[in-house]
Amino acid sequence: MKLLLLGSGGREHALAWKICKSSQLEKLYVAPGNAGTSEIAENIAIDINNFEAIGNFCVQNQINIVVVGPEQPLVNGIHNYFETTNTLQNITIIGPKKEGAIIEGSKDFSKAFMKRHRIPTAKSKSFNKDQLPEALAYLEQKESPYVLKADGLAAGKGVIIEKDLKKAKFALNELLKGQFGKSSETVVIEDFLIGVELSVFIITDGVNYKILPEAKDYKRINENDTGLNTGGMGAISPVPFANREFLDKVENQIIIPTVKGLRKEGIEYSGFIFFGLISVKGDPYVIEYNCRLGDPETEVIMPRLKSDILELFDGIATNTLSERDVEIDLRSAASVMMVSGGYPENYEKNKEITIGELDEKSMVFHAGTTFKNNKIVSNGGRVLALTSYGKNLETALKSTYKNVGKIHFENQYFRSDIGRDVTKKN
Ligand code: AMP
Ligand code: GLY
Repeated sequence: MKLLLLGSGGREHALAWKICKSSQLEKLYVAPGNAGTSEIAENIAIDINNFEAIGNFCVQNQINIVVVGPEQPLVNGIHNYFETTNTLQNITIIGPKKEGAIIEGSKDFSKAFMKRHRIPTAKSKSFNKDQLPEALAYLEQKESPYVLKADGLAAGKGVIIEKDLKKAKFALNELLKGQFGKSSETVVIEDFLIGVELSVFIITDGVNYKILPEAKDYKRINENDTGLNTGGMGAISPVPFANREFLDKVENQIIIPTVKGLRKEGIEYSGFIFFGLISVKGDPYVIEYNCRLGDPETEVIMPRLKSDILELFDGIATNTLSERDVEIDLRSAASVMMVSGGYPENYEKNKEITIGELDEKSMVFHAGTTFKNNKIVSNGGRVLALTSYGKNLETALKSTYKNVGKIHFENQYFRSDIGRDVTKKN
């Protein structure tokens, strides 16, 4: 099989690493990729939102499967483009059409969808830009903290959690006035849920689904979950509080009604679904859906997936996903993201990265890296993820932190407390 993988982050390096383990792989291209993917696959310089260029490349190189890493091309309709272009119709896209990607692309849609299918989620109400007085009145009746969500994609900045009513009202006004353009012309106001978060992932052909390892990520820049939100500073898998009973609830109350609900509504969905969940006293609620895998969650999920991922992709291509197995490595995996000093605000790029010899159970997934004068240099805020296996999370974390010490670049920063909240030695 010949594959093209779209994206350039740690998620894509981890996916590429896993794809390369398959004996069925003939050739893997990554667009645009990073320094890490160039070591195991062929990077090609194509913009992931230029569907015509991607389509032409696929025809010229006889690509069988396109795996879409990030959400933007999916929300923009890359799958629809392939389906409606004659020469591209026999290529399988791992990722939904825009009618499915809307579960991530519109929070208003996803909340209404969950309500329609009785999927547990925080109570909410949506308001559009002409309903500011009603929205303010609704907010006034609510208790602090106030949760405001821009309806559309806002580069991870569209969720505002504010304790002070006055500030929440101001933020609401800003959003509805178009702080994020069209994305915030509708705003969801949602009840605040208290609990612990985790992420569960499936791959589905729209009818059948396979559950992948669950993960927990650490979104804040500073230790003890303080400071600004980031794309994610580390991840662990498995998640200790997600026991069998809890995961059964997730499957019965969330996964099954979601897959069935999509089908009932005539939305053909193929690809991954990322369930951002919160456990409230042992009961799962959906915080958000994403139409793709998470980053850095993928950097712990792929190492724990024992099955051949091309078997799963082929299951989608040939409508045989139900016959494929997902075998999970019983070891734990822990990943720590090394970032550029200053991230998620301003930071410098082009810092030379040196990577010493890592232990056998550790691996590096590049995120924001590139080559310059034959040297690997930083090229983004999140620079690379170091993942290790361990017989339990404590040993995985220990190996990860030991090996993080073998990687250096100027102004590097990482959190030293990944996993500490859920491991025994906290
Ligand atoms: P999102 O961008 O949807 O992932 O939201 C960002 C973060 O805001 C989540 O990871 C949660 O930590 C928090 N959050 C979102 N919605 C709620 C809610 N209803 N209750 C509590 N926390 C929330
Ligand atoms: N780590 C969260 C995300 O990928 O959205």
